[in-house]
Amino acid sequence: MPPPSVLTVEPIGRDAVALAQCMAIDADAFPYASVHFGQRAASVRVTVARDEREGRVVGFLAGGARRGVLHVHGLAVDRALRRRGVGRALVRDAAARARAEGLRALVLQVGVGNAAALALYESEGFYIARRIRGYYPASVYGGERDAYQMVFGV
Ligand SMILES: CC(C)(COP(=O)(O)OP(=O)(O)OC[C@H]1O[C@@H](n2cnc3c(N)ncnc32)[C@H](O)[C@@H]1OP(=O)(O)O)[C@@H](O)C(=O)NCCC(=O)NCCS
Repeated sequence: MPPPSVLTVEPIGRDAVALAQCMAIDADAFPYASVHFGQRAASVRVTVARDEREGRVVGFLAGGARRGVLHVHGLAVDRALRRRGVGRALVRDAAARARAEGLRALVLQVGVGNAAALALYESEGFYIARRIRGYYPASVYGGERDAYQMVFGV
């Protein structure tokens, strides 16, 4: 499928409407809040992908820098607009920003059964650093509780 008409990726800034749109995408994508959007920007940075023609947020990536590493806490794309390159654009933007800041890697956790996300990360050059047993609560992903920790050196 083609990408949304014109896709832009940029920090969310102080846009409360965009924040609400991120929360809606998050609530639809995960059985729990993947990101604590209420936290101050210093600890959680959110970048949003927008369809410029409509102006609305179609995906987000949230993370925080700690000890030279960008920890990605959440990534999700509007269900209706998946598989059009939005997730890849968000990951590439995060990597470019991390590189520009002098960070050395991106790190994230992903459910071992999350085929779409695993395929995206692997195709972008992430590798599986370890398997974390019991990472998710039992109620979340139908009993599959393990996550992979994935790393991408920038
Ligand atoms: C994972 C997610 C963010 C991917 O976003 P997306 O915009 O659909 O991904 P893209 O279109 O950029 O896809 C990039 C690549 O990822 C892989 N991929 C994406 N979705 C896939 C799927 N459903 N099945 C297999 N591979 C998939 C493909 O390699 C794809 O490249 P291709 O389309 O050229 O083959 C999206 O599926 C999502 O929001 N999922 C729910 C939330 C989630 O699981 N987030 C990750 C938490 S760690």
